[in-house]
Amino acid sequence: MANFDNLSRENFGSRIGVIAAAAGSAIGLGNIWRFPYVAGENGGGAFLLIYIGFIILIGAPVMLSEFVIGRKSQRNPVGAFRVLAPKTKWPLVGYIGIAAAFTILAFYTTVAGWTLEYLYLSIVNGFSGQNKSELQNLFGEFAASGYSPLIWQLVFMLLTALIVFKGVKDGIEKYTKILMPLLLIIIIGLCIRSLTLPGASEGLIFLFKPDFSKINGNVVLQALGQSFFSLSIGMGTLITYGSYISKKDNLGSTAVSVSIADTLIAILAGVAIFPAVFAFGIAPEAGPGLVFITLPMIFSQITGGQFFEIIFFILLVIAALTSTISVLEVVVAYLTEELNMSRKKATILASGSIAVLGLFCTLSMGPMPELSIAGMNLFDILEKTSANIFLPLGGLFIVLFVGWKLSKEQVIDEISNNNLLKVRFKYVFLFIVRFIAPIAISLVFLNGLGLFNAFGGGDL
Ligand code: TRP
Repeated sequence: MANFDNLSRENFGSRIGVIAAAAGSAIGLGNIWRFPYVAGENGGGAFLLIYIGFIILIGAPVMLSEFVIGRKSQRNPVGAFRVLAPKTKWPLVGYIGIAAAFTILAFYTTVAGWTLEYLYLSIVNGFSGQNKSELQNLFGEFAASGYSPLIWQLVFMLLTALIVFKGVKDGIEKYTKILMPLLLIIIIGLCIRSLTLPGASEGLIFLFKPDFSKINGNVVLQALGQSFFSLSIGMGTLITYGSYISKKDNLGSTAVSVSIADTLIAILAGVAIFPAVFAFGIAPEAGPGLVFITLPMIFSQITGGQFFEIIFFILLVIAALTSTISVLEVVVAYLTEELNMSRKKATILASGSIAVLGLFCTLSMGPMPELSIAGMNLFDILEKTSANIFLPLGGLFIVLFVGWKLSKEQVIDEISNNNLLKVRFKYVFLFIVRFIAPIAISLVFLNGLGLFNAFGGGDL
């Protein structure tokens, strides 16, 4: 068995730093912006239940699989498969990941740009006195306006590129350790305010009471896609971060902690949003604008709301940033390690080309309606295909690789740090990555795409 330990590579400094960095990647707009609106569009309670099931059964094991591949190979996603499975087609999985990084960042930076505008608006008190329909118009007109969303998107991309250029490992660890708990506190505050609004209970019922009549193949696929998206799995982000984890860290407990933290924040975001959605009479299926309409409404109901609103949007921007850097890092690690580019050149090339795709994404929201197919604009297409196609597909290959291509001993050695750790769940994990996860992902995937009609497929 080859030994890759002799490569001199920077590592995350501490155990808590590893969790902070991986949680920083996982916790982002996926939790606070995407989770509430996708849950809203897919019926609430039943969606949440399936979502949590997927996190436990598939998500956390895929995350651990990515850590195993990354730390064992000490490489970016393409290089990882190349060194662990030489002279095979496996590196293609890494290339799917690189493609996914492009599609994810393109639309993600559009939304991240919106959060910058909303931070700006909260600083200048731009929401004051606005009622629901005014806030709805404000969001709709802004997102479709072209020019200023574009500028904010570019600013965000630039910030991401600057951090990635300086090296992910020093910065992220330091900041996420402090900022993530702060974000948690503000969200809990928002939950409390939202829960004390008149009519709040309806929102809780929507979120927590499963209505199984709403489930179809499409809802299940959306839940799978959202669980992958939210955990940052399926494209090699956590292979890359895994390669920076020290050989002494416990990969399994890291994967579990990160999965729990990520799920907790998503549920809390739901608890903050849905009571308010019902209290203010906003449609749960309002789409990507849901939180941008709901949150300013909640803040307007809080004494000193503007202050908390500013802090909240600052934290949201940072949460988004710790996610975008983790995606860009995948492309940069690939370019530097596989194509021997300098970090500077790699960062410029990667962020520049993604920015071009991102611009079209933003323009498809308004000024360029021709950028759409079958009623979905480029933004929707990239958002849906990355979460519901690229990530599950990547995840499927990742578990197949760990379950069937690596040997049982290799996997156990990696998760137990060569038997220094006692890992109780190792056989459960092996069983999941060999059988449960690949079968479940394939079924959900085929059924959701309508290719396989066992329990009523749906449209994407
Ligand atoms: N998980 C992040 C969020 O919820 C987004 C993200 C970062 C991501 N890296 C990823 C999604 C890799 C998929 C794959 O905001």
